[in-house]
Amino acid sequence: MTTLQGPILGIESSCDETAAAILAPDGEILAEAVLSQQEHAAFGGVVPEIAARAHLAHLPGLIRQVLATANLDIAGLGGIAATTGPGLIGGLIVGAGIAKGIAMTASLPFVAVNHLEAHALTARLPGMTPDGAPFPYLLLLVSGGHCQLVAVQGVGQYRRLGGTIDDAVGEAFDKVAKMLGLGWPGGPALERLARAGNPVRHTLPRPLLGRPGCDFSFSGLKTAVAQLIATYPPGPLPAADAADLAAAFQAAVADTIADRTAHALALMPEALCLVVAGGVAANQTIRARLATLAAAHTLPLIAPPLRLCGDNAVMVAWAGIERLRLGLVSPLDTAPRPRWPLEDLSA
Ligand code: KG4
Ligand code: ZN
Repeated sequence: MTTLQGPILGIESSCDETAAAILAPDGEILAEAVLSQQEHAAFGGVVPEIAARAHLAHLPGLIRQVLATANLDIAGLGGIAATTGPGLIGGLIVGAGIAKGIAMTASLPFVAVNHLEAHALTARLPGMTPDGAPFPYLLLLVSGGHCQLVAVQGVGQYRRLGGTIDDAVGEAFDKVAKMLGLGWPGGPALERLARAGNPVRHTLPRPLLGRPGCDFSFSGLKTAVAQLIATYPPGPLPAADAADLAAAFQAAVADTIADRTAHALALMPEALCLVVAGGVAANQTIRARLATLAAAHTLPLIAPPLRLCGDNAVMVAWAGIERLRLGLVSPLDTAPRPRWPLEDLSA
């Protein structure tokens, strides 16, 4: 156990959120800022080169902003943590490069943070429950790029129980939202539209439902939505029909997630709680299903507040604190890794 000498600055730049945050050594959030890059909306998806340039343009200002809010200068920090993977290489290079530069200038310990570990450990932030989620727990990580069930035994100790064999669940939300003519990112827009819809008008497939194991699949479900849309004349769908399709899609996803998570809970009887993380954890229908499932297993469901579900730097700073407490400092020549599975941390 190492004592931290001061607050930790966290930096996130792995996809299209540019974010910086400062946490006190006990995890209290002193300052946080997230800038969701709007530059990609016109392209209907993240353009890696544009993302990297936008991180470079915005990150220095965001870091100055959080330092000012926390009433600190760089010399007052106790460490710096930056996402170094997995993610888009350009953004990772920008964030990690800036973090290493600050660490070198101010002689601060640097922590290379795995983005998935940052999502995984968010539930342990003090305040999430009175003391944060206790190990071991079952993690359902559902975001735009990831969809997996993980047995979390400790910091750096992860066992993957299952994952998607095709699309990530957020990716499926985004693609179906696009088919329905919604803006990007599609997940939140689809959830809003689904509120007005009838989830049982269409019966959509629930891929892998009831099958053994904890894997996910969403491509068949996506295709089923596309086939229903194709029965309409070209052009925008009638609003009520679009809402019914959105609601049916969301219900199918929620059923699939609940079924797969139930299988994972059966494989992990030692779990003390069920944790959901990643951008899709913001979805209220999915949260409600997970709450019911957790209650049936007499486990608490720990779901971060909405702003900490999507990409943010609070989670990166917190993962940095968890690692620094264990004396896990990263060398300054740590290279960013576009691919970096969680299980590699356990090796
Ligand atoms: O964790 P995140 O911010 O970034 C990644 O690491 O991917 O997750 C973003 C994903 C997007 O696919 C977005 O559409 C989805 O999370 N998402 C949602 C909702 N809010 C965000 N999906 C369904 N319902 C939502 N309310
Ligand atoms: Zn993420």
